[in-house]
Amino acid sequence: MSENPNPETAPQRFTGQVAVITGGAGGLGLAIAEAFCNGGGRVALFDANPEAVTTGTQSLDAMGLSAYGECVDVRDSRQVQEAMARVAERFGRIDSLIAAAGGSLGTPRDLEDISPEDLDLVIDVNIKGTYHCSAAVVPYMRTQGGGSIVTFSSIGGRSTSPVTGIPYAAAKAGILGLTRRLAREVGPDNIRVNAIAPGLFLTGRLQGMFDAMSDKDRNEVLDSIPLHRMPDINECVEPVLFLASDASSYITGVVLDVNGGRFMAG
Ligand SMILES: NC(=O)c1ccc[n+]([C@@H]2O[C@H](COP(=O)([O-])OP(=O)(O)OC[C@H]3O[C@@H](n4cnc5c(N)ncnc54)[C@H](O)[C@@H]3O)[C@@H](O)[C@H]2O)c1
Repeated sequence: MSENPNPETAPQRFTGQVAVITGGAGGLGLAIAEAFCNGGGRVALFDANPEAVTTGTQSLDAMGLSAYGECVDVRDSRQVQEAMARVAERFGRIDSLIAAAGGSLGTPRDLEDISPEDLDLVIDVNIKGTYHCSAAVVPYMRTQGGGSIVTFSSIGGRSTSPVTGIPYAAAKAGILGLTRRLAREVGPDNIRVNAIAPGLFLTGRLQGMFDAMSDKDRNEVLDSIPLHRMPDINECVEPVLFLASDASSYITGVVLDVNGGRFMAG
């Protein structure tokens, strides 16, 4: 790749743009926030963990990247609407919603261990949270003439991955239906909606889980990945930014698998 002779004046792909990143204080969310800011954009982090919001925004500030954070529980549609209104007021626009809040959220994997409350938590955060945030951002995107929404599915919603349980599989498969149906509804408003479906990225808690596995189990995971290595977090960040950016301007309603080939769609 040729180097720009004057990086100071190089065009920045997100200059003037604003992204709301839910789960923005988490492993992938914060890495995406950093990269979006480095691309010239401004970010608002929504996360339910107040300490993580503080440390997340402080870590971006320490890099000279100004970030705004709010403690928001994406399950609460009113909280989401009010926070979205504050972002629109503060920044004057919202170009991207990156809906990363989710996960299996510490719930058990096996059927006999899963309580009704576990099921509700996983469905509520992943599906209802993505729905509430999308519904809240669409009016702003409509008014300004377009935008991009990136939802978070998972290899666990694309295949029968044994790493996570049934509620997670159901939620992450449900997000794909949400993504396609929403893409159809808001396409005429120049709003694109696409899903990312990561394989295993060793953020925070997952790194600890992976490190605690036996060599045999770790090798089994690696053997299921044709590229035969664990990814760097940035290998998920760039595909998300591709979907958020104008580089994907004619792409909507798709799911982008980022899994080293562990699941290949037919
Ligand atoms: N890391 C992976 O291997 C992987 C694989 C496939 C899919 N994903 C998906 O990517 C997304 C981000 O994953 P991650 O690895 O960064 O996880 P993470 O646990 O590091 O971050 C998730 C963040 O979401 C926040 N959150 C949880 N409940 C919330 C709520 N009700 N409202 C607002 N915020 C809430 C948490 O506080 C946390 O900061 C998730 O949707 C996850 O399912 C991750």
